Amino acid sequence: MPTPPSLRLAGQHALVTGASSGIGVAVAKALAAHGASVIVNYGHDTDGANAVVKDITDAGGQALAYQADVSQEAQVQAMFQQAIEHFGGLDIVVSNAGLQVDAPFVDMTLAQWQKVIDVNLTGQFLVLREAARQFMKQGVRPDVSKAAGKIICMSSVHEVIPWAGHVNYATSKGGIMQLMKSVAQELAPHKIRVNSIGPGAIKTPINHDAWATPEAEAKLLTLIPYDRVGEPEDIGQLAAWLVSDEADYITGQTIFIDGGMTLYPGFATGG
Ligand code: BGC
Repeated sequence: MPTPPSLRLAGQHALVTGASSGIGVAVAKALAAHGASVIVNYGHDTDGANAVVKDITDAGGQALAYQADVSQEAQVQAMFQQAIEHFGGLDIVVSNAGLQVDAPFVDMTLAQWQKVIDVNLTGQFLVLREAARQFMKQGVRPDVSKAAGKIICMSSVHEVIPWAGHVNYATSKGGIMQLMKSVAQELAPHKIRVNSIGPGAIKTPINHDAWATPEAEAKLLTLIPYDRVGEPEDIGQLAAWLVSDEADYITGQTIFIDGGMTLYPGFATGG
């Protein structure tokens, strides 16, 4: 009997970084809903992480909160060690933690630049490296999954769309594209799949001001041909599918999920 789609991640163990708010919450919940047990990593928001764990366990799933700053090598390594000891292995890593520190380019301080690169890009390097080491050590366990491990990098439409006023953020996401693709190329022979999700505008705290009032939302919708702002659950469902064996032949790709934001909507009426 094939596994029902609702439990396509049964018996698998996942780690999601930045899972105390926004897209990370929805990803952690979606993986758990599909049967995976989940480490809910968070940076500062203990209450947020505990609430996610409670929601998952109340729904009959398994989850554990773990605090670690993804830009700190020792903390990332300790987190992986704990996760592996706790679960006995790891099958899925979603490198999601990210932030924005916006400023006009000429006013951007080195500290603002560095903070975003440290968390969004170096953090992904550190998380991917530990994931890769563990997946290579484990190898393929056919009773669990066709792949030895699955990695998702949370990118953005801004890995391809330039973004004035957000140069540090857009640069970090452009960097994630080559990080993901190069790592995917290197790890494919080890049966490790590495992909990115590139969300457009999704209703989360990171862009609250862009959708919180009807005026702001109407302005934002001019950039979204599909005419709705995305919900975190849109991303959660994609993540749960992308790490499942149904997506076993996909590696080295960014899946944009953006209501058409990357379709250059200005050209619908111009050019
Ligand atoms: C950013 C959001 C923004 C969206 C679309 C995301 O990566 O974090 O602030 O609304 O891209 O521009």
